[in-house]
Amino acid sequence: MKALAYLGPDKKALEERPKPMIAAATDAIVRVTRTTICGTDLHILKGDVPSCTPGRILGHEGVGVVDSIGTAVTSFKPGNTVLISCISSCGKCVYCRKLMYSHCTTGGWILGNKIDGTQAEFVRIPHADTSLYPVPAGADEEALVMLSDILPTGFECGVLNGKVTPGSSVAIVGAGPIGLAALLTAQFYAPSALIVIDLDDNRLEVARRFGATATINSADGQALRRVMELTGNLGVDTAIEAVGIPATFELCEAIVAPGGVIANVGVHGAPVSLHMERLWDRNITITTRLVDTASTPDLLKIVQSRRIDPKLLITHRFKFDKILDAYETFGNAAKTGALKVIIEI
Ligand SMILES: NC(=O)c1ccc[n+]([C@@H]2O[C@H](COP(=O)([O-])OP(=O)(O)OC[C@H]3O[C@@H](n4cnc5c(N)ncnc54)[C@H](O)[C@@H]3O)[C@@H](O)[C@H]2O)c1
Ligand SMILES: [Zn+2]
Ligand SMILES: [Zn+2]
Repeated sequence: MKALAYLGPDKKALEERPKPMIAAATDAIVRVTRTTICGTDLHILKGDVPSCTPGRILGHEGVGVVDSIGTAVTSFKPGNTVLISCISSCGKCVYCRKLMYSHCTTGGWILGNKIDGTQAEFVRIPHADTSLYPVPAGADEEALVMLSDILPTGFECGVLNGKVTPGSSVAIVGAGPIGLAALLTAQFYAPSALIVIDLDDNRLEVARRFGATATINSADGQALRRVMELTGNLGVDTAIEAVGIPATFELCEAIVAPGGVIANVGVHGAPVSLHMERLWDRNITITTRLVDTASTPDLLKIVQSRRIDPKLLITHRFKFDKILDAYETFGNAAKTGALKVIIEI
């Protein structure tokens, strides 16, 4: 089969690989029909993710058709169309029992990281019963690819952890696919202000179309002043950090209102200053989370009922043999305007 392999920092290739085989009774082999590229795949290609070693097939998102199952798989049969979660979970370990699937002792984020991933014609999914979701008949498969990772990430790490409530004020720092997923799902709770902050005017324009009540280009260093103007000098009840660098986390520390929440989503590679000299008396909460995908069944229902349309995030489509072009387009988002790219296999 054909697969996109990580070959070391800045190296990748579309290679011929053997079709994966069932290795444990709880495995399923899925024929991938649609996948996508995540910002995290770009982090891997920069050499930022040491757990992902050269030779690994990339990808942790996708939809496909079950090809074969191990003897212990009871919820799926060959021929079933399935959504692949970016998080594999056994459903039984101490963390899975707390719905913290991302910390599953024999799963978590392993796909396209510690085991071969979905940017391939076939993928082996461990713990298939609890790591795949049935795709309802007639569902839009492209929209569902957004449910493997980005929708649950924006919702769980940003909106749920950030305790967005009706009438509250929310700022989302970072308007990439994750920040925009938080923007779409924050609207379940009808906040009164949804301020999106980024450096990229094109993405801020998208944010306005997706329901932002105000957008701020922070390139001029005036984001704090603008947020205070927009909130009557109070700051925001929820500040969602969706970039992963010190400057944006510190902006969240500055704009959070007393009693508010800073919900960190970004993956940080460097230490961040915690300004306790300003925050100690402000009754705030700071949350961190690796996406658990515990909300996936609910998000599936919401997408099916068309309350939100995650397809809005898809800007480009490629055939699998053009996946290197897809990486080029996705990796140059500022120039190409890419948000999510669909790769059809
Ligand atoms: N916690 C989790 O489970 C989880 C899961 C998936 C992704 N992530 C992380 O979420 C973050 C966002 O992911 P993404 O795919 O949307 O990334 P992305 O790179 O597409 O988007 C980041 C956005 O931040 C903006 N930005 C950069 N510097 C900025 C600054 N100084 N001020 C304001 N905006 C700035 C960029 O213009 C871009 O639009 C990443 O760090 C990613 O690794 C976390
Ligand atoms: Zn991802
Ligand atoms: Zn587990």
